[in-house]
Amino acid sequence: MKLLVTGAQGMLGRDLVRLAATRNVEVWPTDLAEAGSAPDGRLDVTDQPGLKAAIDTFRPDAIAHLAAMTNVDDCERFPERAYLVNTVGTENLALLCARHDLPLVYISTGSVFDGTKADPYHEFDDPAPLSAYARSKWQGEQIVRTLVPKHFVLRAGWMFGGGPEDKKFVAKMIDRVRSGGSLRAVDDKFGSPSYTVDVSQRCLEVLDTDRYGTYHSANEGCCSRYEMARAIVDFAGLEADVQPCSSAEFPLPAPRPRQEGMVGLHAKLVGLPAMRPWRDSLREYIQSTLIDVSG
Ligand SMILES: NC(=O)c1ccc[n+]([C@@H]2O[C@H](COP(=O)([O-])OP(=O)(O)OC[C@H]3O[C@@H](n4cnc5c(N)ncnc54)[C@H](OP(=O)(O)O)[C@@H]3O)[C@@H](O)[C@H]2O)c1
Repeated sequence: MKLLVTGAQGMLGRDLVRLAATRNVEVWPTDLAEAGSAPDGRLDVTDQPGLKAAIDTFRPDAIAHLAAMTNVDDCERFPERAYLVNTVGTENLALLCARHDLPLVYISTGSVFDGTKADPYHEFDDPAPLSAYARSKWQGEQIVRTLVPKHFVLRAGWMFGGGPEDKKFVAKMIDRVRSGGSLRAVDDKFGSPSYTVDVSQRCLEVLDTDRYGTYHSANEGCCSRYEMARAIVDFAGLEADVQPCSSAEFPLPAPRPRQEGMVGLHAKLVGLPAMRPWRDSLREYIQSTLIDVSG
């Protein structure tokens, strides 16, 4: 299979490209900056003629669309840019997939929900996005469903991964402890951690099927940021006192749902394997990747 990947230099993209290459998949990694494909891996999803030319040149069998404006607070400050990249960029790809009858994997987010449900969200719950980022991704989902018969909408949760290039929550927590800082993490926001390797695995798994539709693609289980921070310190073998705090202490431009935990009900009902518990994946990530390179 020939798979064109957008956003291939991102946290998820790097793992998807690496994993796909081990699975008899011929990958065409593309991104805003050059992403390693010959003749040129540069591809801006807002550039419709560029996308058309790339598909005509590479002739992929499927597309994995990961590219997005992912900084939630920047999306709130610059909503027009968020809708251009996340919604119209997705529409550009969806139109081409429809024209060429290509399967499209679109990575979305658990933050499409408003967080008022007490239990984790499943695929049959109704989204009600709170932020510009979440709205731009939800609109992207709807466009994909409308235009592309062979679509897979995969909603990821709090993503972690990236190895040596990790600059997100896991690496930040470890760096802060190592530099002698104290650790505080909010205990009033809940979500489902999602390991980039496991989300990539799910992406390749669904492409082997014709069970098109929406799949929650987070690791099993939910936690608060505080619980996740404690697990990070524990798995990294660090000594640190982690203090819980309230999100009200950190006002941010974009509203976040109180609860964006997810469960993969659709995958279960159609017989796809469950994703691992988040603690197993987080332990593996920290102990096999992060500690080795930075410890
Ligand atoms: N991170 C999370 O917690 C999370 C959770 C749920 C879902 N998701 C979704 O998962 C996907 C991958 O996320 P990620 O964390 O890997 O994001 P990421 O690290 O920010 O990677 C996204 C990549 O897309 C590129 N990009 C931005 N605008 C583009 C454009 N117009 N054309 C082509 N490429 C463009 C970015 O380039 P620059 O860096 O140069 O801008 C970056 O390399 C996204 O669709 C995101 O919405 C993420």
